[in-house]
Parts: sequence; structure tokens; C-alpha cells
Amino acid sequence: MDMFVVRGGQPLNGRVRVSGSKNAALPIMAASLMADGPVILHDVPRLVDVRTLAQLLGTLGVVSERQADDSLRLEVIDATPIVADYELVRQMRASICVLGPLLARRGKAIVSLPGGCNIGDRPIDLHLKGLSALGADIRIERGYVIATAKRLRGSRVFLGGSFGSTVTGTCNVLAAAALADGVTTIESAACEPEVADYGRLLNAMGARVEGLGTPFLRIEGVQSLSGAEHDVIPDRIEAATLLIAGAITRGEVVVENVCTAHLSAVLDKLNDVGIRIGISEDSAGSDRSTLHVLPTADLKPTECSALPYPGLPTDVQAQFMALLSRADGISVVTDKVFPDRFMHVAELVRLGATIHREGQSAIVNGVDRLHGACVMASDLRASAALVLAAMAADGESVIRRIYHLDRGYERLEERLNALGADIQRVEDSAENVPASLRLTQPAESAGLLTSTFNSAAIIKLENGRHVRVDRPESALPTIGGSGSSANHGVTR
Ligand code: EPU
Repeated sequence: MDMFVVRGGQPLNGRVRVSGSKNAALPIMAASLMADGPVILHDVPRLVDVRTLAQLLGTLGVVSERQADDSLRLEVIDATPIVADYELVRQMRASICVLGPLLARRGKAIVSLPGGCNIGDRPIDLHLKGLSALGADIRIERGYVIATAKRLRGSRVFLGGSFGSTVTGTCNVLAAAALADGVTTIESAACEPEVADYGRLLNAMGARVEGLGTPFLRIEGVQSLSGAEHDVIPDRIEAATLLIAGAITRGEVVVENVCTAHLSAVLDKLNDVGIRIGISEDSAGSDRSTLHVLPTADLKPTECSALPYPGLPTDVQAQFMALLSRADGISVVTDKVFPDRFMHVAELVRLGATIHREGQSAIVNGVDRLHGACVMASDLRASAALVLAAMAADGESVIRRIYHLDRGYERLEERLNALGADIQRVEDSAENVPASLRLTQPAESAGLLTSTFNSAAIIKLENGRHVRVDRPESALPTIGGSGSSANHGVTR
């Protein structure tokens, strides 16, 4: 397993290009299950999740290969397999995107339930409700969804849930409706750009989907779908992460290949925080722009709520929290899509942030300086937030479990290093932790069992019993063997 060693404090400077969108590419790859011919995709990022899905599609009879021009070619060579096995599905929730296409094209799908997740509850009841409305018979047995339909029939489907619509659920229902008999209408469809991109691919394959990008979709079913060629949209979450990387390090970064129309809420919030961003359209009428983050000395606090599109994406909530941890005042960050997506709070606190969780919000009291520490990534976007905070912190940090990051960002550390960051990927081992982060017990405390590093008292073993005694100043742990710098980097 790898970890990052980050030496913080450098302002980033330079140009970086945004990759194709992970969350658009994954359902789009799954849609190739329905095509009678090859599907060629441009700008599919090279990510662990993309490889995992290609592997799953391989077990479902789809051959995928990178072409010389880096496009990804997917073609069904065996249309009989219908089982998406737990061993692959459990590695990535987006595997659920094979459910609609398998059912629509092969009449039956047996797909493992994706299981638990670090960002909170992630049920698939809305996916199943939508497919049932189109006439699928659905059972859950031994952890698998078993969906069968001799012929799907167009119907009226409502996809709103307690936390808004569902992104991958809308894709699944769209897939099924594309090959159903008659007309389907989906109300409260997810409006995320990734869903619209999915619909555009289906249309390029011969489907008839109208209303893309709105909560009301109309789909006229067709008999079959052909192969197609498609450009995946740029990753709006990666774009936001890179903009915040420039802002949090007080740097000057030019971010290329951005669809600004997909980033309205992010740009509006960055503006509230006081970040100045220049925007230049790549060419007249192009939907791509180049964004220029200018150095900002003072970050203003703000309130932000993650909401379904066009609101602020939940997938940038953690990165915004990292940014606001350096603002001059108190900010409130709320997540209305995944109300428990706050695993990064405790790790940001280790880096010196002052954040308190209050229900589905976090109260962030901005600090002047973050400081290096050892932290642990809990999920993909939490990892990104920790990288951002560590780059802005004084001193060295270690970020463990960065395999989460590799699922969704292509060579992130290489691209940040090209902008002047100092991030090393090393094997996760005690020897690779920088000396500045290794705490050593001073000689005087040998034989004492300390309860926590920062407690005002220590626990001593006396006659076989633990007793609490006042903590002498000398018993405080030191860092990197230097007694003079005692307490730096230790969580408060
Ligand atoms: N929900 C239900 N029932 C369902 C489906 C969802 O109640 O049947 C709830 C969820 O629990 C959540 C909300 O609805 O509270 C939104 O979930 P959604 O189904 O839209 O999420 P998803 O499709 O599983 C995609 C992205 C996530 C992103 C969310 C929200 C992909 C592959 N994943 O997940 O991306 O956070 O939409 O925008 O597209 C990430 O990239 O880090 C990531 C987690």
C-alpha cells in the first residue's frame, strides 16, 4: 500500500488540464452492454475505477481496449452473461450501472448489492422502483438483485427521494426505457451533467431521449441500439479540486478544459470566499474554457450547502471544508445529499483545523495556519481534501490510504508536483514517516503509560493498578527527537 509524504507551504503555480469525468465515464462504459457494435469513448480518465469497471464488463462479455489515440473501445462479444459478481461490485458502487443495461438488452440481470460505504447510506431503492415501474420483476436473494423482464414497457416514473433524485439510478432507468416498448417519462430525474452526458451517448446509439439536463425526461423506446463514438465531458469535480488547490496555497493556477456551465455553484461559492478567477472561452461558442485562479491573501468565511445539481456538489464538500479551514472567521458547511459525509473532519482537525460537527453541518472556525500531521483518507473526496490541506500546511504531512484517491483522480500528485507541490508517493511503512512526525518518549517518562498525548494528566501503573497523576511538563512527547519543539504537530 502507498502513502503520500507532503511537504506543505509552497504556493502552486502553472497550468493543468482537467481529465474526462469519472462519474460520466463509468455509466457510459456500462451502456456499451446495450450496443450492437463498438462504442468508442474519448477522454476516459486512466483511473482504478475505470479499470475495475472494464474488468466487470469483461466478465459480462464486453472486450475493452485502449486505442493508439488513447480512446477506449468497448465491444460486446458474448451477450449471454448476466451475473455481476460481488467480488468486483463490492470494490466500486458504480458497478450498479450495469443493472439497467443488462436487464434492457439481455432480459435478466443478477447484480450484487453494492454494500456499505464510508460516505453514508447508499440505498438503491429508487433504481429498483424505476425498473419495476417499467415492468421488471425484482427480487433480492442472498445479497443479489435479480431483475427479470421478458419485455419492458414504457411508463411514468417518479425518481425523487428524501435526498433528491439519484444520479446512477436515473442512468439505469434511462437505459431500460431506451429499449422498452412505448414512451417513458421520468419525473424528478437527476439533472447532473453526467446524466445528460449519458443521455447524449444513448442518443448517439440511436435512442430517443428528450429533456436532458432537466428533471423531466421523455424517452421513446427503440428496438435496438448501435455502436457510437462519444467525447466524455470534463470532470467538474476535478476542476473544482484544482481551482481550490490554487486558492488554498495562495497560488496562481491556470486550469484548462473546464465546462464553466457545469461549475456555476462552485464558482459562485469561490467568489463568496474572495477567490478571483479569470475565465476565457477556448474559442467562440466553445463549451470549454480556461480558468485562471489569481493569488488571494485573505479568504472570507461563508455558508455552503451541498445539494443536487445545479447546487454545490457533495463531491466538493470536503475540499471546500479544507479551504474554509483557512478563512478568516466562522463558516458552516452542510451536506444535504449525504448528511453523514464528514469522515474528513477529524483528519482535517489533525492538520490544525478547528471544526465541530453539528448534525448534518460542520462549523469551521478558520485558523491562520495549518500544520503537518499524519492523517488517514477515508474516501475519494476526503483524500482530495487532505491533499489540499496538507499542501497548505506548514511542515510535513503523511496521508495514508491514498488508494481512495487513485480511484478518482488521474496521477494527481504528479500533476500537482508539476505546479510546484512537493508530494512523494512512498510505501506505507513506519520508516517512510518523516522524522518531523515521529513522536519519541523523553527518557523521564519511561515506564509511564500515557493516556493520550495531550491530556493534562498521565496514567501510571502503581502496584498493578492504573492511577491518574498530574502530568509533569517534561513528560510531554517530543517530535523528531528534539525536546525543544515539543507539542508541534500534535492534535489539539
Ligand atoms: N438515494 C436513495 N435511494 C436510491 C439512490 C440514492 O435514497 O435508490 C439517496 C442517496 O442515499 C443519497 C442521494 O440519494 O443521499 C443521492 O445519491 P445518488 O444515487 O445520486 O448517488 P450515486 O448515483 O450512487 C453518484 C456519484 C457520487 C456522487 C453522487 C451524488 C457516480 C459513480 N457516483 O452516486 O460520486 O456523490 O452521485 O452526486 O456517479 C464520488 O465521485 O466521490 C462520488 C461518491
